[in-house]
Amino acid sequence: MKLYLDTGDTGAVREAMALGVIDGVTTNPSLVASTDDSYRTVIANLADLVDGPLFVQVLADDVEGMVEEAHGYQQWADDIVVKIPATREGFEALGRLRETGVRAGTTVLFSVEQAVLAAKNDATFVAPYVGRLDDAGSDGVGTVKRIQTIYDTYGFETEVLAASIRNTTQAVALYEAGVDAVTMSPSVLDDHIPHPGTDEGVAGFEADWGDRGSPLTE
Ligand code: G3P
Repeated sequence: MKLYLDTGDTGAVREAMALGVIDGVTTNPSLVASTDDSYRTVIANLADLVDGPLFVQVLADDVEGMVEEAHGYQQWADDIVVKIPATREGFEALGRLRETGVRAGTTVLFSVEQAVLAAKNDATFVAPYVGRLDDAGSDGVGTVKRIQTIYDTYGFETEVLAASIRNTTQAVALYEAGVDAVTMSPSVLDDHIPHPGTDEGVAGFEADWGDRGSPLTE
């Protein structure tokens, strides 16, 4: 199972990498636009910190533009995977990139049908938008499960990378479903850590130990 951080914030990436649990970073134009730096600078800075793939999204909405951006991103850093929206033009661009060996997959994905087209096009990954599906009154986790089942049935190698995760309840449901990969914001990752029982337990051990000092020097 892969765990990615969904952000354009280098400070957040540094903190998350220190935890030792992050397999790569996903970004999108909105996340990059929330910084003051150019797209290229943000990606280069993230690439310096990340041990693993960096997922970078195209902005163009025409096939030629998507293909051109995808090739351009390859010059910015090693281990770039290109994110292409699930539009007609996006599927065509995906096919073109496959022929040139650029790793690319389908994002802004909302349906099983789109996921089937992506897999048929040898997409490296698909990113179903779990939170936005739920927002729209659909079943985000259920959609991911259906995609994963179809991929497993046919043996598609496209990675199911659940995105737009809003909370740990959604994340845990995806883990239970055995999804290939999940990308989440730094705050949802942080929410995996605290538990009142842990706080209480640690406080109890410290109280019982009292003023005896470091176990290495007492
Ligand atoms: O990776 C896609 C993700 O960033 C979208 O998340 O929260 O804007 O729906 P959200």
